[in-house]
Amino acid sequence: MSTYDRNTEGLALVHQFADEVKGRTFLLTGPSPGGIGAETVISLAAESPALLILVGRSPEKVQTVIDSIKNVNPSVKTKFVQADLSSIKSVRKAAQTILDDPEIAKIDVVINNAAVMATPFELTEDKIELQLHANHLGHFILTNKIAPKVVAAGPGARIVNLSSSGHRYAGVRFEDPNFTEPGSYSEFTSYGQSKSANILYAVALNKRLAARGVRAYAVHPGSILTNLQHYVKQMDGARLAALMDEAAQKVAGKTLAEYRAADPHKTLQQGCSTTLRAALDPDLVEEEGVFLQDTKLTTDPKAVRDWATDPELAEKLWKLSEDLVGEKFDI
Ligand SMILES: NC(=O)c1ccc[n+]([C@@H]2O[C@H](COP(=O)([O-])OP(=O)(O)OC[C@H]3O[C@@H](n4cnc5c(N)ncnc54)[C@H](OP(=O)(O)O)[C@@H]3O)[C@@H](O)[C@H]2O)c1
Repeated sequence: MSTYDRNTEGLALVHQFADEVKGRTFLLTGPSPGGIGAETVISLAAESPALLILVGRSPEKVQTVIDSIKNVNPSVKTKFVQADLSSIKSVRKAAQTILDDPEIAKIDVVINNAAVMATPFELTEDKIELQLHANHLGHFILTNKIAPKVVAAGPGARIVNLSSSGHRYAGVRFEDPNFTEPGSYSEFTSYGQSKSANILYAVALNKRLAARGVRAYAVHPGSILTNLQHYVKQMDGARLAALMDEAAQKVAGKTLAEYRAADPHKTLQQGCSTTLRAALDPDLVEEEGVFLQDTKLTTDPKAVRDWATDPELAEKLWKLSEDLVGEKFDI
């Protein structure tokens, strides 16, 4: 019987899998104070990784997280790499910085954690819908470009994509990913699309990299109060209530009140444990599945929809992503 559950804390896993942390190099996107990503890297610091590469858009916010890392363990080396994941140019530059850095010989674990949720409709400078761009395509370019350094880490290397139970809201809209059809945009359909893409991308990465010992997983961290709820809090009260009820029905088949009662908010420590098990537990590869929640792998269709794990859809997404970013990746 697995001893992992919704109450498992990240730091406990970092100590349990200390041998998978010590001396290894981790890259994480979206380390901002008070977020799941920051909690993940601050927890990792306790067992002396060789290097934490922090990819963020705000140097000030990331510096605060670096200060917290140094408080836990002054010997841990950190590197800040600036990237706006919703800009193709910015991500290409960040990836090149990482590839060119002689101090980064290999990357043992990539954690694609950054995201925005429920933004008003917006096209990025590359004419791509914002949530699809920041949450999936930015990570698609970054990870594919730095893949040689992940492969260089050898068997045991991992790629972890932060997805969400929100993927159950909507699959990838292959015919209209940028919501050009008038009236088609909804904040959660777009978030759901991007979070389904996070899982399909892990499936596609496994097809390409598993034979070389690199495994990819996607995780739902649980519901945690962070800055992710920023745009939801801006919504008009009545509209928000209706949207949240609809989301609870689609995601869990429950009213919002029933959903909250069954799945209360987690602490940040509980919220980073699913990421950390996906990143660290060597025995995971013996189990079936690509999606984890409550610190465990699951293939239960109530937890992870077919539209997010279907290998054909994963290949279709790879092709769509290449078309959207205007670059082919042979990794
Ligand atoms: N919190 C939850 O309840 C929950 C539930 C399910 C899934 N998740 C997933 O967990 C992950 C972490 O979320 P969180 O709750 O920790 O949210 P958060 O505190 O808002 O952190 C999100 C991070 O993403 C960064 N980011 C957003 N857009 C970016 C861009 N264009 N370029 C670069 N960085 C960007 C943010 O940077 P700035 O600080 O500069 O904005 C921040 O560092 C996300 O993938 C989210 O979808 C969270």
